[in-house]
Amino acid sequence: MDGFERATPGVTLAPPKVAVRGLDITFPGQAGPPVTVLEGLDLELAAGEFLAIVGPSGCGKSTLLRVVSGLLPPSGGQVLVDGVAVTAPPPQVGFMFQRDTLLPWTSVFDNIAVGAELAGRSKAEIARRVPELIAFLRLTGFERNLPHQLSGGMRQRVALGRLLAYEPELYLMDEPFGALDSQTKTVMGRELLRVWATHRRSVIFVTHDIEEAVTLADRVVVLSQRPGRIRLDLPITLPRPRDGRALRGTPEFGALVSEVWAALDLGPG
Ligand SMILES: Nc1ncnc2c1ncn2[C@@H]1O[C@H](COP(=O)(O)OP(=O)(O)OP(=O)(O)O)[C@@H](O)[C@H]1O
Ligand SMILES: [Mg+2]
Repeated sequence: MDGFERATPGVTLAPPKVAVRGLDITFPGQAGPPVTVLEGLDLELAAGEFLAIVGPSGCGKSTLLRVVSGLLPPSGGQVLVDGVAVTAPPPQVGFMFQRDTLLPWTSVFDNIAVGAELAGRSKAEIARRVPELIAFLRLTGFERNLPHQLSGGMRQRVALGRLLAYEPELYLMDEPFGALDSQTKTVMGRELLRVWATHRRSVIFVTHDIEEAVTLADRVVVLSQRPGRIRLDLPITLPRPRDGRALRGTPEFGALVSEVWAALDLGPG
């Protein structure tokens, strides 16, 4: 019994993968009053669900992911992963940061291998899996390059490789394809969906690209200007598998994109 099983035989009520309950985040102001970034935020992610979050710059999206990943303690309220309050980075969570966080002194191969090592994979598994990921991410020929010898988009693909090598249950992705050109972005999105559909991981995906959010996600949440609150929580019921290019011409897709745009509060101007 894990505390979530009920007496009814054969019926197990799993907790949500992520539950954000009344979350407040306040930072001390550098030259003035404290800054409230998130206030009373409630949000749930079901196991296996793909959630996209959009919102104006500075509304608290990265901050929210940092709290879910256990890197930042809440000022108020709490975050639970698999029903357990997060007080340190949970092992089932993998994070792809908005900023490049590759190890600068080591190669593409080793930067990706770190993910598999953290997941406790054997040397033999690492030797098999990392070249597969390198081919999949179209980094073949660059295995021995150091991060500073790569383009921005290539560095992002290495960071994605490290996350995929870790194989977390919950992917926290902060604008993971933001530095990619639009073709590569489309390919990466498609590949991410393939991984997601195969393993049914849970995903929180932050993006500024509304079409990308609607193409990928089961739900799109729109946050307001700071303090970030939920302005829209929109289910995306477009059938899967989805082909981004084909979807973009359809009225259903256009209507969902418009709905998200309308909820985005981008301030005056
Ligand atoms: N460690 C910190 N100390 C003080 N203020 C912070 C800290 N981290 C974030 N902030 C502030 O919190 C607010 C939200 O930042 P956050 O990075 O979460 O925004 P975001 O929604 O991810 O924006 P973007 O779309 O530009 O990435 C900003 O005003 C930022 O200055
Ligand atoms: Mg951010």
